[in-house]
Amino acid sequence: MEIVAGDVAVITGAGSGIGRALARHAASLGMRVVAADVEVPKLHETVALITDAGGTAIAVPTDVSVAGSVADLADAAFTTYGAVHLLCNNAGVFSGGMLWERTMADWNWVMGVNLYGIVHAIGAFVPRMIAAGHLSHIVNTASMGGLITNGYSGPYYTSKFAAVGVSECLAHDLRSVGAPVGVSVLVPSLIATSIGSSDRNRPERWIDRDRQRGADEEFVAAALTDSTAAGMAPDEVASIVFAAVAADQFWIPTKPSYHDQIRSRHEDMQALRHPAAPPID
Ligand SMILES: NC(=O)c1ccc[n+]([C@@H]2O[C@H](COP(=O)([O-])OP(=O)(O)OC[C@H]3O[C@@H](n4cnc5c(N)ncnc54)[C@H](O)[C@@H]3O)[C@@H](O)[C@H]2O)c1
Repeated sequence: MEIVAGDVAVITGAGSGIGRALARHAASLGMRVVAADVEVPKLHETVALITDAGGTAIAVPTDVSVAGSVADLADAAFTTYGAVHLLCNNAGVFSGGMLWERTMADWNWVMGVNLYGIVHAIGAFVPRMIAAGHLSHIVNTASMGGLITNGYSGPYYTSKFAAVGVSECLAHDLRSVGAPVGVSVLVPSLIATSIGSSDRNRPERWIDRDRQRGADEEFVAAALTDSTAAGMAPDEVASIVFAAVAADQFWIPTKPSYHDQIRSRHEDMQALRHPAAPPID
């Protein structure tokens, strides 16, 4: 889809990392930006960065794990700007540790944000995007962890496999009705963001007050913080995403290693082998 100045972009998780970079890149193209995040001070910081640079943006505090909150976000976007041309379902959280130590609160939080955040947005935005009749595009942020697996992060990988699945299904359904709405799925490798400290945004209802954070969780969060610090800059990811949207490209990897990683997975599947655990780089 060709983006034209004045088009409207809605971006969740816009207070930090990849989401902030997407919001700033959208504004730099002249898009009007609806920035959404649960971390409100950081969300306002993003909007200030855009408006200080001469761009147009509003902040809509949103918890994507709550259907009503995402419905309010859609209302705010359509009421303020009258249309949505680009929807980036990017908000995401990470929780690590051994699978058998994970609680239902861990699962509900990670699935609530990483999968149901996208599902809520499909319900709130897509009917209006179809009805508008003009070209529009949806980018769902999954992860290379939605295509290959590794240890110690079961709920995260599972949620990202689901994010990939729902993106493929959405693309099929939209094509089946001839809707002018494109879909892409962003599958980043390691990116230098604050994902390793996702716990900062864990809602009260999904905190296990009667349980100490285990050594396995601490270890994985620290390893993720260290490895992502050496990752690609979020601004570079934003450039890759906008080039992919312009080309109507479904898969949006951030590194060439994507090709070997998925080839290795498919070879394992065809040979009926135990999945390899290639490190995500
Ligand atoms: N950083 C990486 O290496 C990497 C790799 C693959 C995929 N991803 C994915 O990229 C996306 C963006 O993450 P990031 O790396 O920029 O991390 P980040 O922590 O810097 O940004 C994530 C943003 O999502 C927001 N958020 C969390 N819960 C929310 C909720 N319930 N409602 C609304 N907003 C919420 C956070 O406040 C934060 O601003 C996530 O989906 C993540 O899983 C990141």
